[in-house]
Parts: sequence; C-alpha cells; structure tokens
Amino acid sequence: MWIYLCSALVAALPLVAFTVKRLSPYLWADILYIGDLVRILLKFAWRRRRSVFFALDRFLEQTVTRPDKPFVVFENDVYTFASTDRTSNRVANALLAHPGYTAGDAVALFMPNEPAFIFTWLALAKLGSPVALLNYNIRTKSLLHCFNCSKARVLIAAAGLKEAVEDVLPSLQEQGVLVLLMVQSCDTPGIQSFSDKVDQASDAAIPCSLRAHITYKSPAVYIYTSGTTGLPKAAVVNQNRLLIALAVLSANGVSSSDVIYLNLPLYHTAGFIIGFIGSIETGSTIILKRKFSASQFWDDCRKYNVTVVQYIGEVMRYLCSTPKKENDKDHQVRLAIGNGIRGEIWREFLDRFGNIQVKEFYASTEGNVGFVNYAGKIGALGRVNFVHRILFPYSLVKYDTERDEVIRGADGLCIEAPKGDTGLLVSKITNIAPFVGYAQNEDQTERKRLRDVFKKGDLYFNSGDLMRIDKDNFIYFQDRVGDTFRWKGENVATTEVSDILTLTDCLKEANVYGVQVPGHEGRIGMAAVTVKEGAQFDGSKIYNHVVSYLPAYARPRFIRIKDVVELTGTFKQMKVKLVEENFDPGRIQDPLYILDDKHKSYIPLTAQIHSSIITGSTKL
Ligand SMILES: *[C@@H]1O[C@H](CO)[C@@H](O)[C@H](O)[C@H]1NC(C)=O
Repeated sequence: MWIYLCSALVAALPLVAFTVKRLSPYLWADILYIGDLVRILLKFAWRRRRSVFFALDRFLEQTVTRPDKPFVVFENDVYTFASTDRTSNRVANALLAHPGYTAGDAVALFMPNEPAFIFTWLALAKLGSPVALLNYNIRTKSLLHCFNCSKARVLIAAAGLKEAVEDVLPSLQEQGVLVLLMVQSCDTPGIQSFSDKVDQASDAAIPCSLRAHITYKSPAVYIYTSGTTGLPKAAVVNQNRLLIALAVLSANGVSSSDVIYLNLPLYHTAGFIIGFIGSIETGSTIILKRKFSASQFWDDCRKYNVTVVQYIGEVMRYLCSTPKKENDKDHQVRLAIGNGIRGEIWREFLDRFGNIQVKEFYASTEGNVGFVNYAGKIGALGRVNFVHRILFPYSLVKYDTERDEVIRGADGLCIEAPKGDTGLLVSKITNIAPFVGYAQNEDQTERKRLRDVFKKGDLYFNSGDLMRIDKDNFIYFQDRVGDTFRWKGENVATTEVSDILTLTDCLKEANVYGVQVPGHEGRIGMAAVTVKEGAQFDGSKIYNHVVSYLPAYARPRFIRIKDVVELTGTFKQMKVKLVEENFDPGRIQDPLYILDDKHKSYIPLTAQIHSSIITGSTKL
C-alpha cells in the first residue's frame, strides 16, 4: 500500500513542481531567501548569547584562522590578516600613549580610501572608541559641523588633507581637540604628526579591558547622510547593527576564497559596512582602491583575480559607457553587489561583460528595513516576501509630491498605495527593526519618525524614498522625496546649498533642486535665484564662493535668475515646475548660467552649450 502511495507521489512530483512554478515562478528563490534569513538570524542570536562578541572579535578570529591570508591589497602593497592586526595595534598603542586621548574617547577619521583608514578604525575599535567617518570632500563649515556632531575629542587626518584641517583649526583648538596628521613631522602649531609615533609604537595586543565598557547599544561608527534640511546628519551605527552587517556578504554567497573590489568611499555605508565589515566576516581579500576609475576597473579585476565587485548606479553606467574592448568578458568577476542600477544598464552590463550575477539591494545607513533582489529580476531592488514582511513590517503609503507630505484619510491615518502605484516606503520601528537616529540631533531624528500611520499612536521610520510594487511583488525605486537629490552617488541637501548661495553678497534667495541630464544617473544641482536689489549677478564671485564651501558634487551646475522665488501654500519653495523646465535655454526666458571650471565662473548657458550637454560631448 505504502509503496503504491509513495510511487504515486514520486510520479506526481514533477507535476506538482511544474504547477508550483506556474503559480509562482519565484517560489524556489523565495524559499531559499527565507532560509538565508533564518540562517542569519540564528547566527546573530548565537553570537549575542555570548557576553561580548562584536565585529572586531570576528576580525580577531580571522587573524587566528587565516593569519597569512591577504586581507587588504592597496596598489602594490599586501597586508595579511596578521600584519593588519599588528599595524592596528601600533596605531592603538601610539594613540594610547598620546596626551589628550583616553581609551573610549570618540575620534573622527578624516581620510580617503587607504590602508591607514582600515588600520585606524580597527585600532579605535580595540580601544573602545566610537569613530566618526568624515566625508573627506567636505570643508569649512560642513566639516566643523560634522566633526562637532560626533562629540569627538580627537581628529585623525590623512596627510593630503592638511589644508582642510588648517581651515578649521582655530575652532578645533578652541574646543581643545587633539589634531593628529598622518605625517612624519608637522610644523603647523596645533597639528601633531602621528605617523612617526605609529612607526615607533609597540605592536603588542590591546587589552580587552579597554573596551569592556562597550555594549551592543554603544555607538560604533557615525556615518554622515545628507538630510532633507540643513547640514549633514551623523547616523549612529551601533555595535548591534555592525554585528548584523557582518552577514551582508556571506548571505550573498561570498566566502573566504573571494576577492572583493572595494572602490566606493569607506566613509559611506556601501564601502564601510558592506565591503569592509562584510569581508571581515567572510575572510575575503579586499582590493582597496583610492577612487573608482572606469578605465582601470577591468584591468584591476584581471590583475588581482577579483571575483566580487561593489557598485552604485553611476559605477555601472560609467563602465557601460567606456569604449568596447575585445577582452571585456575576460575576467573572473562572478558577482556584483550594490544599489541603484537601472534596468537598461543592467541588461547592457550583462551583455557586455558576461554572465555576472547582479545582486541589487536597498538599504539606508540609518533606516530599519532593507531589501535584496534575490530573484535577480532586472530593474527591481527587492521582492515582497511574507516572512521578511512579518519581521520588518513595512508599507508603501500614498504621498503628495507637490505638497511634500503623506496623504492622510479622513481618520487622520495614512493610506496604503495600491499595487502598481508609487508610494512612500515606511517601516515600523520595533525591537528588531530599531531606528537609532542621529547624533546630537533629536530634531532631525524626530523628522524621520512618522506617527499614526495605520493606527493611532503607532510609530514608523520615514525612508524618504518613493517606491512601487508590481503585480509580481517586485519592488522598484522611483524617486527621493523632498529636499534632497543624488548626484555622483552622493546625497545633496538642497537647503544646505541654498544657505550657502545666499551667503554671497549679490544673491537674495536661492531655490535649489536637481535636474535630470540624459545619460546620467541622479540629478545635477540647479538653483533658481533672485538678485539683491541694486546688486549685479557676479558669476566669478559666486563661483569662488561655491567652490570654497561646497564639495564638487553639491555645487549647483546651473543657475537661473528669477524676479521672485515662488512659494507653495505652505511657504515651501516651489520646485516641481522648475524641475520640469530643466535647463533648456530654448524653453526658459530667464537668464541662465552654467558653472564653468575653466573660466572659474558662472557663464551664460548658450543653446550651443546646452546641446553639447544633451548629446554628451560636454561631460558633467
Ligand atoms: C590570478 O590567477 C592566476 C591563475 O590562477 C594566477 O597565476 C595568478 O598568480 C593570480 N594572481 C593573483 C594576483 O593572485
């Protein structure tokens, strides 16, 4: 009897499988994904059972398991796990011996991608110090602001950033900050050389007692994000979050035999959390690049036998726009992991560079929900999965982009966007999906909280991202809301730019927004300004001002002069119409200017310049 039943079942299996596949072609991918989620949670829970286990402890485990394996390769230098460990001990010992620093003090790191960044972070982790990862493109007021929100007592800066440090030195000295520069000797009073001290320091291990005060809730790093208003905010990444972050690469099948190409900035989440912290877990080798370079990308991949690359949308677009080569498919890259690749670029990338698995995901530094497009559907950033949704209750709610606020029903609650419609991603704040917020900035933290979403008194995280879910349950990114736009992989806060523009003598008001340019990801900055009464628009003065206050990606490329800056009913600056009108001198009657680095000025935007931008012969 049983025999018959069993053989009938076996015979029926292909039919069942076929039916299931018809019903849901992604069932198998869904099941595998749930398996991954469960595995990550179990591992996390297992580690949390121990009294202390932090990301640093995983690194220390690796130095025992695979001491001689290369961990970081930078240009022609190779650092094994053991040598990385020893060098970071030297940095830690040098710091510990330095007057003005006590173990546990917050420290700000102001460094481009280089091995010293990694050594110093590990050293500070060993000393139990939270670390503020400063964006090395920022200067003056922004730099000081970012430094201050971390409450750091020490600034450690790369040699090449000496001038930027000198700009803010008087303020730092006033606050009694210890300023260390990665040089052998320094003649600027108030800045101390640090490399010489590191070279002389002992490489003895740092006693655990120095970090005994750390808990899972302690801040581990501060990562800066541009907010909807004002200056950048320091998102607090606590130890707990770093522990979860360990899983990101391993969950995507990366192992110790992989070689990771890390060309994104280490001061951002993608580079630091995914590339660096992720590799600590897997024990992979990191090929560290100072900067992304489209022309060196594949040569590097071949030279170092890279198997996994990281990307943002811009990286993929730049790679696809390089001239085609015969050896485009000649490499060992099997996985690209990142965020922001457009569907058409994704197809082109696969077509041109071969069979590379693209793992597109969505996450934000401070947010409490993330997605990964585990089913590999081109163009999507993730997929609705019921287990994931139980763990992280999120929803897309209707949003009014004109008024820049969520739409609420008569009962005062939000309204879920129907399938296929665009809505704002919000995610319930819970114990397993916490929102830690921003350092020294309760006001901005509160702005990211959304209350009374589906029930009176409930509490959600407002991602600020508009998304859409299609009928097959795939999730697509649509746009950012409010006062930020992305350019060259960086968020630009429009209010920060407009504050800086109106500091000039000749401008009265500035309404800043981003406009799309054919062939480019994101939006480039544009400002509609009014000129002060009796003043003249002075292109070169504004240029000098903008260049000294703003990093390149945040500088408004186009300026449009208006008689008045229009306001909405709620006194917000009108942007939607300006964004639509773009920067076409054929459509706009107002005087238009373009930032020109060659003339070091804002010069009139002619129809000829406009068309050379549209056709791509002028690079932005
Ligand atoms: C890359 O792989 C090739 C072939 O397996 C090997 O000969 C070469 O030494 C490797 N290069 C590096 C930098 O590991």
